[in-house]
Amino acid sequence: MPAQTVIASDAVHRSAAPRSASEAKHAFARGRLRSKNWDRHVADVDRMASSPGFQSLRDLILELARLSAGEQVLDIGSGTGLLAHAAAPHVACVIALDESPAMCRHLETKFTRLEITNAKVLQTTAMDLRLPDGAVDVILSNYCFHHLSDADKRRALAEIIRVLRPGGRLVFADMMFRISFTSRRDRSVITLILKRLIRHGPAGLLRLLKNAVRMVSGHGEHPAGVEWWREALLGAGFLDVTVSALEHEGGIALARKPGAL
Ligand SMILES: C[S@@+](CC[C@H](N)C(=O)[O-])C[C@H]1O[C@@H](n2cnc3c(N)ncnc32)[C@H](O)[C@@H]1O
Repeated sequence: MPAQTVIASDAVHRSAAPRSASEAKHAFARGRLRSKNWDRHVADVDRMASSPGFQSLRDLILELARLSAGEQVLDIGSGTGLLAHAAAPHVACVIALDESPAMCRHLETKFTRLEITNAKVLQTTAMDLRLPDGAVDVILSNYCFHHLSDADKRRALAEIIRVLRPGGRLVFADMMFRISFTSRRDRSVITLILKRLIRHGPAGLLRLLKNAVRMVSGHGEHPAGVEWWREALLGAGFLDVTVSALEHEGGIALARKPGAL
């Protein structure tokens, strides 16, 4: 039975900016202020969302989520709304959450332009969802979590299980490999990515160099492998956990919060 929880309207549109000096210090210690500035990447994210790869991930996520009318859905790291936009016609309400103010402004304009009236925008981080306990039936996400450190991924999972209603579902896709050469999958994914970048000539090599510098300086991406996600989801208290590698660098995860179905 879908939860009928009404999400308080003041729960949306709140800023994720640090609210005090101690919060800012805490955020800096966690590396939050050193992460990528997504405000500069709205057009890139929009371009990526219209790529065949992301469109088929969107379809797979929605198929696995089995959304139904009356459900409250949260899309974490919504970007320019790839999942939120597709989910909205099938459910009661979608909350598109992103930490980037520019991404959120873009989303609000898009929802207004497309006359999507059951979608709200929430500017906050995945580690502080700022929604009531048990308020959401389904949580979706695509290619957001590899931008979080492992500790922040675990914080996000604790928040996700808190805001899901008992029996609520989590379905997400993300990069799923480790930047290491210890497993065959990690090696083949890294080789695939290197070949892709090299194929782009000087621009690809420049990107490779930039990525290497970002990784060394701690600004890089932090993909986790299939096993890591399985263990983290079980550790956070989820049931019916399924995590599968896809044929490229991605993977897909499904899990359910214990309790009423
Ligand atoms: C690669 S984009 C994916 C966007 C969208 N899900 C899609 O599939 O097109 C990653 C998004 O995650 C957001 N993001 C990154 N770190 C985040 C965090 N800690 N909390 C919330 N959003 C975050 C970024 O602002 C960006 O919009």
